[in-house]
Amino acid sequence: MTLPGIESFLIGECRAFGVPVGTVWDGWVVAAGDPEPLLSRAGTLRAIVDVAWTGPADAVPARLPTAERLWCENQWINEGRRASAAFAAASCAAGGAEIVAAPDGPPAMVCIVDRSGRALIGRAVAWGLERRRPYRVALMARSLNPAMARAMAMASRARAGDVFLDPFCGSGTVLAERALLGPCRLVGLDIEAGAVDAAGRTLSGFVLDGSRAGRAGTAGGAVGDDASGALQVELRVADARALPLPEGSVTAAATNPPFGHRMGRAADNADLYPRALREVVRALRPRGRVVVLTGDRRHLRRAVQACGSALRQRSEARVWLGGLEPILGVYDRTEAALP
Ligand SMILES: C[S@@+](CC[C@H](N)C(=O)[O-])C[C@H]1O[C@@H](n2cnc3c(N)ncnc32)[C@H](O)[C@@H]1O
Repeated sequence: MTLPGIESFLIGECRAFGVPVGTVWDGWVVAAGDPEPLLSRAGTLRAIVDVAWTGPADAVPARLPTAERLWCENQWINEGRRASAAFAAASCAAGGAEIVAAPDGPPAMVCIVDRSGRALIGRAVAWGLERRRPYRVALMARSLNPAMARAMAMASRARAGDVFLDPFCGSGTVLAERALLGPCRLVGLDIEAGAVDAAGRTLSGFVLDGSRAGRAGTAGGAVGDDASGALQVELRVADARALPLPEGSVTAAATNPPFGHRMGRAADNADLYPRALREVVRALRPRGRVVVLTGDRRHLRRAVQACGSALRQRSEARVWLGGLEPILGVYDRTEAALP
């Protein structure tokens, strides 16, 4: 299981680690074979469930493997009523299991209802994998889900020799996930000194004396030990509207700016988004890529348009994140000048 909307990244990881992929649903990738290679290496993976049954939430069958406790997750706030009915039915089908709201260890059985009203019931093999990253030592309320941050780092097309920028770095989750993909130079900027401190603590396990990093055994992968390069990190307090970076000095960027409701104000994004995106495009080399996650689609669209032919959209997808449905946009810097 991953976050709905980023299944294609989990499929890529399954294939890369030799796990055959079958059907894909909302947040679920049905795969066959040994899940072991995914457990320690797939950064977009949140859970593995040994599926006992799937089908319409209002048609859970009477006979299922029994369990003493059944943990139910309702990913879809708007589907609450349908989900409750499915959970109750699943509990009966599982032999009157006690329904618990949150597991205090790996849940024995899980029942999950997706947006289309499909229920999935099965034995949880692994759960909450994205929360186990050892770098998560400086969490802030704003810290991004690591599975989403990994998808963003992957979407930036991580390459050896990258200069990778996050101009709204917060506690540094996107930077850490990029570091896990291999050596590069990370540039993290934030307007708040407290966030830059947090990003420093997040990345401290990766950077030893400014040279090669190593958190061996990291869930989601360890920093590559490619002899061709070390991980370098530059973190600074800076305003994304006036980046302290020369033109063409960055090869890739990925970021989640304030969405404008839990953090910041939508009215402020009208100024922030176009100015910050223009700065990122100025700093990007031609053929560089920028990945943006935001709940403020309107202001992102306007900001992209304002960059004219200097920026070409590759994809925009709705994703799911903690009850919100932000968009994940991927854009390429062209050779054209900014208007
Ligand atoms: C949604 S948070 C990013 C969270 C981050 N991805 C993480 O995992 O912690 C947005 C960040 O943008 C920063 N910010 C807001 N306005 C800014 C600006 N004008 N320039 C740079 N950073 C800014 C905030 O301080 C905040 O840390």
